[in-house]
Amino acid sequence: MNRIGIIGAMELEVKELKARMALSKVEKKAGMEFHEGTLNGASVVIVRSGVGKVNAALCTQILADLFHVTHIINTGVAGSLNARLDIGDILISTDALHHDVDATIFGYQPGEVPQLGCREFVADEDLARLAKETCERVNPDIHAYMGRVVSGDQFISDNLIKSRLISQFQGDCAEMEGAAIAHGAYLNQIPFVIIRAISDKADNSAQVDYPVFEAAAAKHSAALVWELVKEI
Ligand code: ADE
Repeated sequence: MNRIGIIGAMELEVKELKARMALSKVEKKAGMEFHEGTLNGASVVIVRSGVGKVNAALCTQILADLFHVTHIINTGVAGSLNARLDIGDILISTDALHHDVDATIFGYQPGEVPQLGCREFVADEDLARLAKETCERVNPDIHAYMGRVVSGDQFISDNLIKSRLISQFQGDCAEMEGAAIAHGAYLNQIPFVIIRAISDKADNSAQVDYPVFEAAAAKHSAALVWELVKEI
């Protein structure tokens, strides 16, 4: 039977889903609360991982080991790197990579974790397609794009860094957990997709835009997850 792990970094990104789920149990591990139950008819475990790649990776491993999830969805907000992605739009991952890994001195590509054999972690094609179709069906007013998530332990709010993430990694959005979740899902052979609503443009205006738009953006992503889980 399917059991879907749903990870949001911040309370804002999971509170709507937690409020709407039929809760059967809450378990604590590594300072995180794992909410087990059903969401729109699907068996789920919803968890706030905390911000950043270490929290996200730990959370993913716990979902694999203790909750035996069959799928992972990461929901939340992100800064757009692609000019086609406006605030409020949704980015569904084709793949994800770490933009802050650098072992180029040893001949690896920028972003490539040594000795892993891949730089990009490819999202499950069926999950990503389903997410896009579901978004278009239930919310035709919101633009949904497929693209690359680049993650690092930094909030991106600088035009020059943004330009580098585009030229070096061809990123479509920047955030702080997706690649770590994707990396963990890859190592555990769990299909995953990252769904991120755009809260800012990861440029010099991001510091101002982010607090204004984060709540509405988080709602867009969570609304899509609510619809998606019943299709899996
Ligand atoms: N999450 C939302 N916006 C972000 C940004 N600009 N950089 C990193 N993470 C984000």
